[in-house]
Amino acid sequence: MKGLVLSGGKGTRLRPITHTSAKQLIPIANKPVLFYVLEHIKEAGINEVGIVVGETKREVMEAVGDGSKFGLKVTYIEQEAPLGLAHAVKISRDFLKNEDFVMFLGDNLVKDGIKSFVNEFKKEKPNSLILLARVPEPQRFGVAELSDGKIVRLVEKPQVPPSDLALVGVYLFDKNIFEAVENIKPSFRGELEITDAIQYLIDKGYHVKPHIIEGWWKDTGKLDDILEANRIMLSEIKGKVKGKVDGESKIVGEVVIEKGAEVIRSIIRGPAIIGEDSRIVDSYIGPFTSIYYQTEIIKSEVEHSVILEKVKLKGVVRLEDSLIGKAVTISKSPRRPKAFRLLVGDQSNIEIP
Ligand code: G1P
Repeated sequence: MKGLVLSGGKGTRLRPITHTSAKQLIPIANKPVLFYVLEHIKEAGINEVGIVVGETKREVMEAVGDGSKFGLKVTYIEQEAPLGLAHAVKISRDFLKNEDFVMFLGDNLVKDGIKSFVNEFKKEKPNSLILLARVPEPQRFGVAELSDGKIVRLVEKPQVPPSDLALVGVYLFDKNIFEAVENIKPSFRGELEITDAIQYLIDKGYHVKPHIIEGWWKDTGKLDDILEANRIMLSEIKGKVKGKVDGESKIVGEVVIEKGAEVIRSIIRGPAIIGEDSRIVDSYIGPFTSIYYQTEIIKSEVEHSVILEKVKLKGVVRLEDSLIGKAVTISKSPRRPKAFRLLVGDQSNIEIP
């Protein structure tokens, strides 16, 4: 069995972060979402993975390399434009050959991994196994309508959802999916939808098995989802201090302080993680905060936020529910007039009190 990971797409709902980086590389509890995906695939006993890449190919390749750090053999498959998930399957045929495979969307986080689903697929041998989860806003997803435990219909982003069962971004297929992707037409959003390809399988009488998952799952495509994913992953961490904490600082609860990081005259209330070579000085870091590497937080207060690498916060009181991109600087200025002075990228979103 092989793995197919989708790591293209534009990430429009996460701009401006995705103007310069791949959404799959946004760190959750200081680890890119894509890395969790690759680890889960490995854990399910799969060793060969194709990663479909698009515009952000260079960055994804740099982060994952040949896959050996995950114990995987990785092949990159270029998608010239984001033409849909079924299109990604189509262009991966040479890599997949006729083998069974698990397709995993690189921005989806499934907390408990996928081993049990892969085993179920191997044991029961349906033509496809799809995962479903109950969600509060099904119109944001592909939605399944079931009857007597069987799938009757699948619809992509329906305005009036037939149920609250969303398609999770993990799908298991045998070779018959290739017949399906060859026979469908682009959807209203101009993409070859995997949802339509699965509907094709159902219509042709292939066995598509649904599995409603109970565990936590998230498509990390929006700010709130990233903050929630970060909260869920941080709530599992065990505190560990590899960096330095001075005698005037206080660490409460589960806090990871990575190698080379320094905490000076500060309070850190976990669960929280401070990345490599970051400095926290005269500051307060509250629960559910992830600070990536080489970031400096001075005389500031941050809570329930994800701060990426090389950020500088100085005199910022206080930041909550935020996602701060790479190398952003926010500082308090003594200059008059007292005003916000901003140099902000396209499609940024700033809320002020
Ligand atoms: C895609 C699929 C959708 C699925 C979702 C899961 O949506 O088309 O059916 O529910 O992933 O994350 P997209 O993220 O492309 O909008």
